[in-house]
Amino acid sequence: MADQPIDLRERARNAIAHQPQRTVTVLSCLLAVEDALGFVPPEAVEEVAARTATTVNDVWAVASFYTNFRFDPPGRHVVEVCWGPTCHLSGAQAVLERVQQALGLEGEGDTPDGGVTLKYNTCVGACSQAPVIMVDHQPIGRVTPEAAAAFAAEAAAG
Ligand code: FES
Repeated sequence: MADQPIDLRERARNAIAHQPQRTVTVLSCLLAVEDALGFVPPEAVEEVAARTATTVNDVWAVASFYTNFRFDPPGRHVVEVCWGPTCHLSGAQAVLERVQQALGLEGEGDTPDGGVTLKYNTCVGACSQAPVIMVDHQPIGRVTPEAAAAFAAEAAAG
């Protein structure tokens, strides 16, 4: 993986350059990087600073203010449990408990082997399908706790 830093820098630069909106800010750049890479590596912070004509320190200040950014690579698979109001009313608590159980986690975070990152989401935009989980950005709606646990276990095994 000797070329990973170069790859990360290029991928970050690409994500920053291809933002669809007209107004590009430090925050929009960080969001684009997080979306593309799943985390914000130091190389990306440098690229954001260069693109927005600010300093690395200023970019770190913005990035570290928001809890949504992570600075180390996520697991090979990312399982998100929607915790928005509609999903909450539709049984997200039971879904979450079973997913945590399947992954051996007590909250958000990474499994010890780095295989899965579990995240909570406040709404994935599929409320009509509640309760919803996402596995590697693919929404799975009307999920039962048992099915959610099976998807999580499958992700952990993959
Ligand atoms: S609240 Fe879960 S998809 Fe909207």
